[in-house]
Amino acid sequence: MSQMMFEKVAFIGLGLIGSSLARVIVANHLAKQVVASTRSQKTLEDAKVLGLIQQGYENPIDAVQGADLVILALPVRATQKVLETIKPYLFSHAIITDVGSTKGNVVEAAKAVYGDDLPEGFVPGHPIAGSEHTGVHAGRIDLFANHKVILTPLPTSANWAVDKLICLWQAAQAEVICMDVDKHDEVLAHTSHLPHLMAFNLVEQLANREDNLDIFRYAAGGFRDFSRIAASDPQMWHDIFFANKKAILNAVDGFEKQLAVIRQLIEDEDSHALMGLLGHAQAARQHFNHMLAKSPLMENKKVTTQQFTILPGKKSFKGKFSIPGDKSVSHRSIMFGAIAEGTTHVTGFLEGEDALATIQAFRDMGVSIEGPKNGEVTVHGVGMQGLKAPKSELYMGNSGTSMRLLSGMLAAQKFDSVMTGDASLSKRPMERIAKPLREMGAQIQTTGERGTPPVSITGSQMLKGIHYDLPMASAQVKSGILFAGLWAEGETSVVEPEPTRDHTERMLRAFGYPVKTEGNRISLQGGGKLIATNIQVPSDISSAAFFMVGAAITENSDVTLEAVGINPTRTGIIEILKQMGADLTVENERIAGGEPIADIRIRGSRTLKGIHMPEDQVPLAIDEFPALFIAAACAEGQTILTGAAELRVKESDRIQVMADGLKSMGIDCTPTEDGIIIEGKGKSGEWDAIFTGSEIESHHDHRIAMSFSMAGLRTSGAIKIVGTETVATSFPTFTALTELAGLSIQVSE
Ligand code: S3P
Repeated sequence: MSQMMFEKVAFIGLGLIGSSLARVIVANHLAKQVVASTRSQKTLEDAKVLGLIQQGYENPIDAVQGADLVILALPVRATQKVLETIKPYLFSHAIITDVGSTKGNVVEAAKAVYGDDLPEGFVPGHPIAGSEHTGVHAGRIDLFANHKVILTPLPTSANWAVDKLICLWQAAQAEVICMDVDKHDEVLAHTSHLPHLMAFNLVEQLANREDNLDIFRYAAGGFRDFSRIAASDPQMWHDIFFANKKAILNAVDGFEKQLAVIRQLIEDEDSHALMGLLGHAQAARQHFNHMLAKSPLMENKKVTTQQFTILPGKKSFKGKFSIPGDKSVSHRSIMFGAIAEGTTHVTGFLEGEDALATIQAFRDMGVSIEGPKNGEVTVHGVGMQGLKAPKSELYMGNSGTSMRLLSGMLAAQKFDSVMTGDASLSKRPMERIAKPLREMGAQIQTTGERGTPPVSITGSQMLKGIHYDLPMASAQVKSGILFAGLWAEGETSVVEPEPTRDHTERMLRAFGYPVKTEGNRISLQGGGKLIATNIQVPSDISSAAFFMVGAAITENSDVTLEAVGINPTRTGIIEILKQMGADLTVENERIAGGEPIADIRIRGSRTLKGIHMPEDQVPLAIDEFPALFIAAACAEGQTILTGAAELRVKESDRIQVMADGLKSMGIDCTPTEDGIIIEGKGKSGEWDAIFTGSEIESHHDHRIAMSFSMAGLRTSGAIKIVGTETVATSFPTFTALTELAGLSIQVSE
């Protein structure tokens, strides 16, 4: 930025924060003149030598004359005195701001000087950045980069002043947030002041013990991590604790209450409740990490996301593998377990981020859930009327299944709720579920730009059963409606244009809830109850699909995928690969936990051939097409897909994104409205490279990333796939298993 924003900027105080901001102003030429006033002559001299100011004054009156921006960068307790001193000399349109960590008392100080008629240029602020170093030399030009700055404009503050300050902080690469003064002090009391108070207090408690030397000597990482912030400046924290007294005392009261709760649970040896509390807190902490990682700030920053690199060269692809649990079944095991009566034990649970988002949502609604640990989860059901209002928005991450199924459930609760998701989920259509739910009497709004999330729901216990003809083959929409139907009056029925995955129907029956399936019509009566049961989650055929395709396109491969779910509503991939001529056998078929499973063996013994993919298999292979497109590129002849427009509204537009990637790797293909035409480059009996190397943008779609990884088995150049971190949503062990099979993927951040 080179535009001159200010004529003269006056800093009152030039420590770490002030001098860092001065560095930003000077480096970006934001002011014609920068001056400062501090009590230390040495600081002023040093600041001049550092090129931060043109003039330094001991008296603030000299500094502020003619300044159009005055920045109070001194201890908060000095605010009133300084304002009193400089008030008569301030330019009438000057912007006056500060950088203190409490805001209510800064406003009080200003009111003591000006009365209620505060200057319109007065806008308090708080950059949330710091360091253990202090003084003018400690300042850094990047101190605020990617940190938050909170401005607390007052009713008297003019918009032009707020806007100019926002531009100033943005020049420092900070993310600016505007907040009400009380809210600021309350938030900071909980997230910063209380943790500091607790750290000081715990260290004090231990330091007062007679055996304190031993205790500190043997203190492990936990103590070190927890007490790190107790090494901060005592004077500063002394001032903050008094300055934000009211909000801090509230936070301390809340802490004492919560401490009493956990104390009681330990005294009573209430294992179930203690596990619930600890599990909820642990998940909230992990969730919080996740939120930080996906904050808009990070997105703006275009942080390098994860990427996969696969080098060229002939590879083998062999072995017996156990693929992680089915995502659809994992979600549903938590959802039904939560509203059942009794305790549900789940094994084989997919510990991927999507299913974890579902667990978190139910924990937020008061359900005690233990695990997941080694795929085991215990859900202590609360019954049909037992869910509690979540304290804040429910964050669904990348998971469309969570959001659409929960829409039906939440529409029928006695409380209101809001669901949000990550950047990909925030673009996905939610009206498809909102519309039928409204017909049932639900009050539900898709508050995004085009019928997209956030989804905002006003709970209602008066839903009515409907009959709904699904306009698209979607198991998520079907399931969302059936969910609402559990609480609705009378019968709820849906007719699907084509059969889609029926895990909801199967699992409802497993939980003792009658569901009728007559052809494509599924119906149930509202008002029943679910009885807890044990759920064994089969391996996910959608994840196994990548290994099936990998084996089908690699010479002499031999891969067996054990105990994979082969529910007939999911086996389109097997049928299509067989029609393409793959050497694939389904062995050892059996039933586990109400779902059919089998071992699937695929060998790379013959070249695949291009086909017109059967439209009736589309809903049964809906998630597997990105992988099948890789198979089609290696096949001999043309492959045509039609009737698959739904692929355009998955985690990405899978037709376009795959077409772009394939073309960049030398494959001739044409995307169409509802499918794609791929000119296969395979030749019967030949196993040479098919793909040229390329850099692929996965659009943060897990299945796109994993599909292009398989192209690495037949590539003549390096393949780099960008945005692969979402692989963890459905297949956290993907790269470990490909490595075992013979396909090495370098993962870098
Ligand atoms: C799912 C249904 C499908 C599928 C998704 C999981 C489910 O979505 O693509 O990965 O668990 O019900 P649609 O209902 O949008 O087809």
